[in-house]
Amino acid sequence: MTLEKNLKERIKELTCLYEVSSIIVNNDYKELDKTLFSIALSLRKSLQYSKNATVEIISEPYHLISSALPSKTVSIESTINVFNEPKGFIKIHYPAKKFTKKDFLTEEKKLLKNVAINVGDLLERVAIRENEAVVKRKMEHADRLGILGEITAGIAHELNTPLANILGFAELLKSKETDNTQTSKDIDKIINSAIFSREVVKKLMFFACEMPQNLGQTDIVPVINEAMNLLDPTFKKNEVKYKVTLPKGEVLLKADTIQLTQVIFNLVLNAIYFSPKDGLIKITLEETKKKIILKISDEGPGISAGNVQKIFQPFFTTKTVGDGSGLGLSVVHGIIRSHRGTIDYQPNIPTGATFIITFPKQ
Ligand SMILES: Nc1ncnc2c1ncn2[C@@H]1O[C@H](COP(=O)(O)OP(=O)(O)OP(=O)(O)O)[C@@H](O)[C@H]1O
Ligand SMILES: [Mg+2]
Repeated sequence: MTLEKNLKERIKELTCLYEVSSIIVNNDYKELDKTLFSIALSLRKSLQYSKNATVEIISEPYHLISSALPSKTVSIESTINVFNEPKGFIKIHYPAKKFTKKDFLTEEKKLLKNVAINVGDLLERVAIRENEAVVKRKMEHADRLGILGEITAGIAHELNTPLANILGFAELLKSKETDNTQTSKDIDKIINSAIFSREVVKKLMFFACEMPQNLGQTDIVPVINEAMNLLDPTFKKNEVKYKVTLPKGEVLLKADTIQLTQVIFNLVLNAIYFSPKDGLIKITLEETKKKIILKISDEGPGISAGNVQKIFQPFFTTKTVGDGSGLGLSVVHGIIRSHRGTIDYQPNIPTGATFIITFPKQ
């Protein structure tokens, strides 16, 4: 090759490296495939027989080709390393009909290597960015929940005493107002509202883990039966049916029975609320070698895909104002976590919601 031609090749390679750097600097992280495609084109342009060349960049999930690939090719390739691990490659092809391996210049091989290093660096930066975003989102979420926990604990404490006073004095007034007058009816409203608020405060305290936990090895079968007995009138009132399936013997679990009752109440009350008339709610307890599984399913509308991730967030509710505070499932989640268990949602078939609680056995 003549000196002039050599120089020309060298300039093309340097231009390519310069171009690749600028492409990478201007990279839009949302359109990485465009960036990689531009790099492939730039590399192709720098080759001695650029018109016949095809540059291919593969790094999962990206696969880019500068132009249509001939069926048989001769090629050189360089691995793309991301954090010192091979994560794909860049290949330069020529059609095998007209070219041989000898048609690749040493300089071109070096250039290919350099571009692969640049692409590797870029993919590393992308990975770091994605990781940072995930960590940031997690921290924000944890922060929010932490702050919320502290605030709710504070509010709950502050409200407890005045609420007790409202309730106490209202009951005192009612005892004086013996006739069934308008005043007496109004006092009833005050009492009912105060009781509702007290329940909300209780849930808030559960949520903020302000309730002392009383863990002990217990048979949870009677706990479930008792909770269902207490709920029976609510089922009748709402014209909803239920079926409880329990193992024959006892099922031992290290649990706080009051909290467990709270869990059943919250889940079953939700299920009743969303059930159609004559809908069936199934409560099933199963025991395996390592796990205890409690399932509660209903035949209501179920939970839309968009809402599934929100239901355990405090104050998320789709109930009409006054019907729900959106704290039930947050409380349930907190209690189950403190028992080292998990709760998952699954749609019921053909319609409805299923909540699956799994406790590990010690
Ligand atoms: N069985 C169910 N069927 C359909 N949607 C449900 C069911 N259980 C929960 N949800 C959805 O999850 C939301 C949150 O439930 P959660 O128990 O936390 O609050 P809530 O029932 O609205 O209020 P609260 O329990 O404080 O009275 C509900 O408003 C509803 O949108
Ligand atoms: Mg609820």
